[in-house]
Amino acid sequence: MASSPMNFSILFLFILSLSSSTSLAQPSSFRPKALLLPVTKDKSTLQYTTVINQRTPLVAASVVFDLGGRELWVDCDKGYVSSTYSSPRCRSAVCSRAGSNSCGICFSPPRPGCSNNTCGSIPDNTVTGTATSGEYAIDVVSIQSTNGSNPGRVVKIPNFVFSCGSTFLLKGLARGTVGMAGMGRHNVGLPSQFAAAFSFNRKFAVCLTSGRGVAFYGNGPYVFLPGIQISRLTTTPLLINPVSTASAYASGEKSSEYFIGVSDIRIVDKSVPINKTLLKIVASTGFGGTKISTVDPYTVMETSIFNAFTSAFVREAAARNITRVSSVKPFGACFSTQNVGVTRVGYAVPEIQLVLQSNNVVWRIFGANSMVSVSDDVICLGFVDGGVNARTSVVIGGFQLEDNLIEFDLASNRLGFSSTLLGRRTNCANFNFTSTA
Ligand SMILES: *[C@@H]1O[C@H](CO)[C@@H](O)[C@H](O)[C@H]1NC(C)=O
Ligand SMILES: *[C@@H]1O[C@H](CO)[C@@H](O)[C@H](O)[C@H]1NC(C)=O
Ligand SMILES: *[C@@H]1O[C@H](CO)[C@@H](O)[C@H](O)[C@H]1NC(C)=O
Ligand SMILES: *[C@@H]1O[C@H](CO)[C@@H](O)[C@H](O)[C@H]1NC(C)=O
Ligand SMILES: *[C@@H]1O[C@H](CO)[C@@H](O)[C@H](O)[C@H]1NC(C)=O
Repeated sequence: MASSPMNFSILFLFILSLSSSTSLAQPSSFRPKALLLPVTKDKSTLQYTTVINQRTPLVAASVVFDLGGRELWVDCDKGYVSSTYSSPRCRSAVCSRAGSNSCGICFSPPRPGCSNNTCGSIPDNTVTGTATSGEYAIDVVSIQSTNGSNPGRVVKIPNFVFSCGSTFLLKGLARGTVGMAGMGRHNVGLPSQFAAAFSFNRKFAVCLTSGRGVAFYGNGPYVFLPGIQISRLTTTPLLINPVSTASAYASGEKSSEYFIGVSDIRIVDKSVPINKTLLKIVASTGFGGTKISTVDPYTVMETSIFNAFTSAFVREAAARNITRVSSVKPFGACFSTQNVGVTRVGYAVPEIQLVLQSNNVVWRIFGANSMVSVSDDVICLGFVDGGVNARTSVVIGGFQLEDNLIEFDLASNRLGFSSTLLGRRTNCANFNFTSTA
């Protein structure tokens, strides 16, 4: 999504304040090894949503699940009522943990989202590429623990840090949502805050599906019905983009999104001829490279990559007698299902391979993750054109991630991926949500 970076820090008033210490989250005496959140696909926007139980009394806040987002932000303008809401003071430990040096003034009656002497935030709607100025806040979050196969006891995090956004920022988000839950690489991202609250590994795993999937925080195992434990993940380094890819950010901020090093794209073992320079992150501008996103419903490729990729796929499909039909937007190539077989891992179409750090570390994409059914007898290659000036050259989107388990280890900076669980006779909708608490 094209968006112009702006330096919002100039919008904030910088005022001096005495630093105050705010205590870090204190878990209850039961110490969970892992936590979980349900992640549900919204059929109309194709966004993934989760529910964060927040505030006193607790409110089940439906928010968009944003894999690369910096933090949790919610609309505080409308209907935020909580007796445990508080504002961190400027220059406090919470503000520095949140990476905020700015200090705001609000010229309206005090309410959640309108405080004096609170550090400023930049809540970002990463779906529309719109950001605004907001403020950091603290409140209670309550979340289910898990032993890997079922939800267990609910645990509380009393001092969860989030950002207060505005009602207008919800435009473009799935109906009923009140913000976005950022799973990105940042101290105030949900994975880091969960790990800090209960002293478990800074690690999380996501399993998206077309219905209700699941995200795990902390340690595995990851068990899906009928009792299938997902292990033996292939791993690749997570790369850091030194320039933020957010819609607006303070200068010098790194990207909180997850980048990986795709070195080649192959279709049925043949390299697609593309300009490999585009696959590298340009350190000075943050352009280029490959990231993983849950706010893009389909994988997005820079125009020259998209064209070469689509042509190569069409050629391989033709070699298998798969009949091309008129394209259906937003896709570039569509086919009749007539001559296409169906396998356990989806339609029998040419296999797509993302080659990573070496020729034998490959993310394989089979029919279930490459072909989108647009009508009874038409399927389309589920990749879209990102334009000639795409900020990130390849954005692996939600459809390509579905029914794959992907694990982010923030301590060791590694991504683990399972390839399609359909090949292991389960899927991401098969987590047993019956609580054993
Ligand atoms: C913040 O301080 C200003 C100036 O003292 C005052 O006018 C305003 O009402 C205060 N706002 C809040 C939210 O307390
Ligand atoms: C999780 O707890 C349930 C209920 O006690 C049990 O049936 C299951 O085997 C446990 N799973 C693991 C991975 O320990
Ligand atoms: C490849 O892409 C880079 C970055 O956009 C560009 O500078 C270079 O000219 C391109 N090379 C070719 C051969 O098109
Ligand atoms: C494709 O169709 C042609 C003509 O019907 C046939 O001769 C050929 O064997 C088919 N190829 C494959 C790979 O099915
Ligand atoms: C889901 O877990 C519950 C609690 O452990 C168990 O009673 C139930 O049989 C499980 N469901 C299936 C389909 O195995």
